Amino acid sequence: MTNSTQKPIDQPSAARTMTAIVHTRYGTAPEDILRPARVDRPTIRDDEVLVRVHAASVDRGTWHVMAGLPHPLRAAGFGLRRPKYLNPGRSLAGTVDAVGTKVTGFAPGDEVFGIAAGSFAEYVCVRTDKLGRKPSNLSFDEAAAVPISALAALQAVRDHGRVEAGEKVLILGASGGVGSFAVQFAKAFGAEVTGVCGAVGVDLVRGLGADHVIDYTRGDPTGGEHRYDVILDIAGNRRLSRLRHALTPTGRLVIVGGETDGQWLGGSDRQLRALLLSPFVGQRLGTFVSAENADDLVVLREYIESGQVAPVINRIYPLSEVAAAIRHLLAGHPQGKIVISVRDPGRF
Ligand SMILES: NC(=O)c1ccc[n+]([C@@H]2O[C@H](COP(=O)([O-])OP(=O)(O)OC[C@H]3O[C@@H](n4cnc5c(N)ncnc54)[C@H](OP(=O)(O)O)[C@@H]3O)[C@@H](O)[C@H]2O)c1
Repeated sequence: MTNSTQKPIDQPSAARTMTAIVHTRYGTAPEDILRPARVDRPTIRDDEVLVRVHAASVDRGTWHVMAGLPHPLRAAGFGLRRPKYLNPGRSLAGTVDAVGTKVTGFAPGDEVFGIAAGSFAEYVCVRTDKLGRKPSNLSFDEAAAVPISALAALQAVRDHGRVEAGEKVLILGASGGVGSFAVQFAKAFGAEVTGVCGAVGVDLVRGLGADHVIDYTRGDPTGGEHRYDVILDIAGNRRLSRLRHALTPTGRLVIVGGETDGQWLGGSDRQLRALLLSPFVGQRLGTFVSAENADDLVVLREYIESGQVAPVINRIYPLSEVAAAIRHLLAGHPQGKIVISVRDPGRF
């Protein structure tokens, strides 16, 4: 006879818990909001994969999810009053630990990378439509840097910028998480690339293959005589009129991002104005939210394994220092990506 309150003898409780970063309320200071805890391991649904996380990474979205800002983000599924997910981590790389009953194509032991809510933890459940096989030539730390930022860069260049060989492309924000990938994709598509970043990033962006690099602290890259077929506006929040001035009469503007203090619109009023204006002018002015999908994770893996694209790792922090990692990103000027090592979690 079994007692329903008894623990199954083959699953000692330690084996069902994990170390994770948790946040139970929204707030802007990572040191106040994020704390380590022992929590239950998540349980997979039929269509999910349990991944043992080796590494995760930090991006601008990490802070937004932690802060719950701009406010519409809360209504978009992250939790209205308090965070819905364990922590704000999303990109990840690791090994498959278990698969749901309806999962095909993945098996325990597979090395994977992808996107899932709560990746600052030893284990996370991942939907298979946001999971792919890890590029074989990358370490787990390198692979964790890829999913969110490289998907945005790929889709900006390929789907929204529709960059073609020989076109002149201006990339504003070329040394950051998204921009460092965007420069490489634009080159892979055969464009003549001008990258814009601060002084510390100039050598990096040139090394990524940019044909020209402009230091934004030394002049306005959109103010001169140059005209571009495509502008990828990743940072700087330049006025639409400035951006249009630097486009050819039929050029394409893709607004990828740009950080503002806006609590409600988060700078998206500029995106909205671009969309409203676009039908009335010869230029195409647009914006997008990345589509997180497994097909494009395959595309990323192919570009990376062929050697055309590689992540730039700025610094690796242990899991115990996630707050410091986010603080480092907020302080500005990290070149490339900031990675969180979960396998070497550090001292809590
Ligand atoms: N649409 C989407 O689906 C999507 C997806 C991912 C990210 N995003 C957004 O994309 C934006 C960038 O993200 P990220 O991770 O790449 O940020 P990041 O790592 O902080 O990089 C920002 C880059 O912009 C440069 N920069 C700063 N001020 C500039 C200026 N005035 N002119 C030109 N360049 C400037 C920085 O150079 P220095 O370091 O030298 O200052 C750096 O190269 C964020 O707003 C993020 O939310 C959007």
